Amino acid sequence: MEVLKAESGSSSTLKRTLSRTNLVALGIGAVIGAGIFVLTGQAAAQYAGPAVAISFVVSAMACAFAGLCYAEFAAMIPIAGSAYTYAYATMGRIVAWIIGWALILEYLFSGATVAVGWSGYVVNFLSSTFGIDIPASFATAPISINENNELFFTGSIVNLPAVIIVLVITILLYRGIKESANFNNFVVVLKLTVIALFIIAGWFYINNDNWVPFIPENTGNFGQFGWTGIFRASAVIFFAYIGFDAVSTAAQEAKNPQKDMPWGILGSLLICTVVYILVALVMTGIAPFNELNTAAPIAVAIDKAGSGLVWLSPFIKLGAIAGLSSVILVMLMGQTRVFYSMSNDGLFFAPFSKIHEKFQTPYVATVITGVIAMIACGLLPIGILGELVSIGTLLAFMIVCLGILLLRYKHPEFERPFKTPLFPFVPIMGIVCCGGVMLFLNPIIFVICGIWILIGLGIYFFYGSKHAKY
Ligand code: ALA
Repeated sequence: MEVLKAESGSSSTLKRTLSRTNLVALGIGAVIGAGIFVLTGQAAAQYAGPAVAISFVVSAMACAFAGLCYAEFAAMIPIAGSAYTYAYATMGRIVAWIIGWALILEYLFSGATVAVGWSGYVVNFLSSTFGIDIPASFATAPISINENNELFFTGSIVNLPAVIIVLVITILLYRGIKESANFNNFVVVLKLTVIALFIIAGWFYINNDNWVPFIPENTGNFGQFGWTGIFRASAVIFFAYIGFDAVSTAAQEAKNPQKDMPWGILGSLLICTVVYILVALVMTGIAPFNELNTAAPIAVAIDKAGSGLVWLSPFIKLGAIAGLSSVILVMLMGQTRVFYSMSNDGLFFAPFSKIHEKFQTPYVATVITGVIAMIACGLLPIGILGELVSIGTLLAFMIVCLGILLLRYKHPEFERPFKTPLFPFVPIMGIVCCGGVMLFLNPIIFVICGIWILIGLGIYFFYGSKHAKY
């Protein structure tokens, strides 16, 4: 804790330029992406119907509890940290390692997931606007999963547009083109504008019949509609909220971190929650929910509204394409920072903290992040990727809540500029709610995550524990 505090003070070389509004914008920039533009439609079609709007409330509650705990940490230790740093300070090295390893699932794989969403919108845009049809074998994943959780080959070759966008972003990150606050603000305004247009214009095309029944009857299978379906959908669309924690990685660049971090984290969460519920209502109100299982459901909903909304279609698609690009950028950049911090602490292979002489970027971490993300988005479907991201993030959220709980008892004397209200209710509920959402993920994801953690522990014992600096 003392080392971190010293680091957050004098040695900081980052410029403190971000205002409260910038921080909220940063959060929204990282949050609004494939979750709302892609997964909402799929969750409605497969699990919850129009009640996906209720699923958004359920996930928002889990995020709000975790968000309050993040805010307490971010104000208390305002360094370019993340759950990894908080865990290191409060629960020791091995927990920090597991979190750092889980954050790879969050950042690296969400970059890949959003790239698949980007691909869906680009393919749809090229086809509808220019008549250019990219064959499905070059625009969808070759590996998928069936209802019995068995992997199968779809006959496709590779999701080429997804690989290309990750390649372009990796090159940008390698050369050090940093997403400036102004560029981010611009993309956020663009994203929010197209979404607001969709909500306002779409509202007039809602057919109330599409909302009846609002909670479709359970099919007899767990998680397929009914209340279990609502919870299953909330586990899937939990992905849509991921990213508000990225605000905490900008703590060293905030003008007034102690006061503004909580605003950035909780403000972006609140705005996104309201936006998501409205989009879910309009989307399922315009189009029958069973038609939304597509790569670009908002575009499909607009087409369903008929000629009246045709003008909106290209704006939405372009807004989605620009908005998704910025999410990929922030997520992959976040990943290189986690690799960099872990390597700097001696826990991960030394080359990951090497800085490029000319571009001043962690270039080894950037290239390896890019290559793994390209393989993942080229081969896997969005469903598997999204749930992998969710499990990694939920794990990180639970440990952050636990950290707040432990630290209040172990070190009540630390200065806490922001305190989560209703202690210990909030951190305990954070752990319970995130754990609850986790239970509704696809069982196969637990197996993949378990294997992932085992590989991580192997690296820790053979490398990290021997080279750790602290
Ligand atoms: N929350 C981000 C998205 O929906 C990761 O794309």
